[in-house]
Amino acid sequence: MQYLATTTAPATLETDCIAVAIFENGELSLSASTLNEQSDGNISRIITRGDIAGKAGQTLLLQDITGITSPRILLVGCGTKGSISESNYISAITAMATVLNASAIRHATSCLAEIDVQSRPLEWKVRQTAISTEAVLYKYTQTKSDVKPQDFPLESISFFDESDTTQAALSGQAISAGMTLARELSNLPGNICTPTYLAQQAVELDDLFASVTTTILDEAEMEELGMGSLLSVSRGSREPAKLITMNYQGAGDDRPVVLVGKGLTFDAGGISLKPSQAMDEMKYDMCGAASVFGTISAIAELNLPINVVGVVPSSENLPDGDANKPGDVVTSMAGTTIEILNTDAEGRLILCDALTYSARFEPEVVIDIATLTGAIIVALGSQASGLMANNQPLADALLQAGNDSYDRVWQLPLWDDYQQQLDSNFADIANIGGKEAGSVTAACFLSRFTKDFNWAHLDIAGTAWRGGKAKGATGRPVPLLVQFLLNHIASK
Ligand code: BES
Ligand code: MN
Ligand code: ZN
Repeated sequence: MQYLATTTAPATLETDCIAVAIFENGELSLSASTLNEQSDGNISRIITRGDIAGKAGQTLLLQDITGITSPRILLVGCGTKGSISESNYISAITAMATVLNASAIRHATSCLAEIDVQSRPLEWKVRQTAISTEAVLYKYTQTKSDVKPQDFPLESISFFDESDTTQAALSGQAISAGMTLARELSNLPGNICTPTYLAQQAVELDDLFASVTTTILDEAEMEELGMGSLLSVSRGSREPAKLITMNYQGAGDDRPVVLVGKGLTFDAGGISLKPSQAMDEMKYDMCGAASVFGTISAIAELNLPINVVGVVPSSENLPDGDANKPGDVVTSMAGTTIEILNTDAEGRLILCDALTYSARFEPEVVIDIATLTGAIIVALGSQASGLMANNQPLADALLQAGNDSYDRVWQLPLWDDYQQQLDSNFADIANIGGKEAGSVTAACFLSRFTKDFNWAHLDIAGTAWRGGKAKGATGRPVPLLVQFLLNHIASK
């Protein structure tokens, strides 16, 4: 799928379809009224018949309108003119993409970026169109046997606007492709997407981009580094753990942003076994890792002038004769001893060693991304990812990037008062903090290993995938992370 820019007037466009916005009560957008004049009032006559009212998400596909070069015009309802919310706009462009994808249209032009959406910049509307379109077009097929190619796949959307949308279309293309990569890795079953498979994918990114260098550490090398916490999780699995590092170099010897992605390719809970209800969804426990892959590929595609290191600790968490047992004490790479009171709190056990390891890159900031706690789903649902940080300017930058990208985060406190919940009688810390504030105490655990740098933690357990009938990965928080990096570059 291609996202392009055009400044050719809609009436003379050579394209399979022109999409234009209309508003509640049949009001026309600028481009819709241009086409209407060009066709001697044809469009307003059709609207007057009442087949489309202009509510957000309504569509009407018109054919062979006289006076217009394009064979089709798609009217897209966007809601009440002057007060179109972000979610109205997303419904409208999603509906547009759904019609374009279901018809024989291969190349379309969208004029929807011209309308006002809560004073969002043009760039936002273009990017959001690419993101929503890609979500409509994405179809998981890798392990299905009966896959028919589409007769008329949608191949391109060009954005018409009087201003140049080239840069916005390029970033939309890269971000949405990064999300598709994240989705695909996340949706793959645990028996295919193993730590070894993720490591191979990282090597592929290295092959694809001259700017990316991948290194993989195996268990023996992690042993040498003293990663006793990470390896204790992996000991209960027959799949060997991997520590994947993808180094994107776009800015000489600037200090890098380090992104650490939780890569549990399956989390059964270990000896503290999870209930079997929806346990299949624990293949998604590597969505943090997937978002790091998606982000690295997007920024490499865009050649962003920044240095980013992606670190992915990857393992399975299974019950086994050699698995961690409640009460076991392990020693992390930092030397901190950990009493494992619940083997299902394994994410923090692999992340703590990856965070300690991250210090060697002399990071400007470290951000970990993890499907860390069920508690964050209770707190924030599937709208916002949880944010906790040891540095407020970094937290503010992530909140800002969340608002800018509409891939939003909400901050929870990381006050010292919570730290005592991790006290242990038999080790330096316990790996769980009791039933109160589960997402905060998980972050408190990680904070013990991030004292030497500015660090933020994103808990994406509620946002990275959807369950139920429409089960599937979302590609979040790739838009947030790319936006954070773009803003970071702009502020340098
Ligand atoms: N991967 C899970 C978190 C999770 C659970 C994400 C459900 C999405 C849906 C994590 O490893 C985990 O099991 N966390 C435990 C921690 C608890 C034992 C302190 C949890 O949230 O129940
Ligand atoms: Mn777990
Ligand atoms: Zn987990």
